[in-house]
Amino acid sequence: MSLSETRKNPVPGEGDINAKVMLVGLGPGYHENLQGKPFVGSSGKFLDELLKLARLKREDVYITNVIKCYLPDNKPTLEQIKACSPYLDQQISLINPETLLTLGNIATSSISQKYNLGMGSIGKNHGSVFEVNTLQLQARIIPMYHPASALYNPGMRETLKDDWRDLRI
Ligand code: URA
Repeated sequence: MSLSETRKNPVPGEGDINAKVMLVGLGPGYHENLQGKPFVGSSGKFLDELLKLARLKREDVYITNVIKCYLPDNKPTLEQIKACSPYLDQQISLINPETLLTLGNIATSSISQKYNLGMGSIGKNHGSVFEVNTLQLQARIIPMYHPASALYNPGMRETLKDDWRDLRI
């Protein structure tokens, strides 16, 4: 299905274009679709808490997603990931972050593939640092659990908070 069919607004991303820290999530949910902005729903509220624990201000980072349009089931196909990939590439190249946090499995596997990082499972490697050192990008990539994982599974909340508190960025 074409991505534009299920969206009200595209959600390209927002934040400081000079940000040193960039966050990549999965894709817009219900509220993001209505407002055209990333992470403004319940995951976004928890993300705001996590950013504070990492001593980061939301206005100082750049936040985007792998998928730029709302998918009601939030389960993109490989084709849909591919269709959005050039936008994410351009964003990474324009922002040129020092640190890129991948939120959840899909963001982590997409970035891992783009830069050949072999990042493995998030359950094992959450909070670990992977280095990208190419002509286009020199950055630290850190896989993090998706904030929504703590909403589905409240037992994860403290793990996420510990990971963000431990970030040294
Ligand atoms: N979940 C995401 O992955 N991205 C958003 O923008 C909102 C919720």
